Amino acid sequence: MKLLQWKDAYSMGEIEIDKQHKGLFDLSNEIYKLVEAGVDDNEHFRELFMALNDYSIEHFIYEEMYIQEEGFPGLEEHIGQHLKFNDKLKELCVGIDKETHIKDIGEFVATWLVEHVINEDMKYKKFIETKK
Ligand SMILES: [Fe+2]
Ligand SMILES: [Fe+2]
Repeated sequence: MKLLQWKDAYSMGEIEIDKQHKGLFDLSNEIYKLVEAGVDDNEHFRELFMALNDYSIEHFIYEEMYIQEEGFPGLEEHIGQHLKFNDKLKELCVGIDKETHIKDIGEFVATWLVEHVINEDMKYKKFIETKK
């Protein structure tokens, strides 16, 4: 798992979306720091992952409405990726006491967030830019 660092290159050119992405990075980093500190409190992690899940859903709805308004043709596919993230997170969290380790969930979250912003969200940014 790694600490996520915001870069200007990650900007979508939309203030609210950037704010939400930074908020998601912050939550992921909070989890990272606890994992690194060796904190072993499943209940606390469960709460953090739930907060991250809730916040991501809020962000996804905002983002989907935004890209729909902009007429982004990859909307449906993009919605599918968001849904998959929440499904996977849920699946991992349900197994939190059993086979799933906190570190694995944190790893999944951190990796997914950065890759989704860089590879997928960037697609609508480019589309909107070329429209102008
Ligand atoms: Fe997205
Ligand atoms: Fe996003």
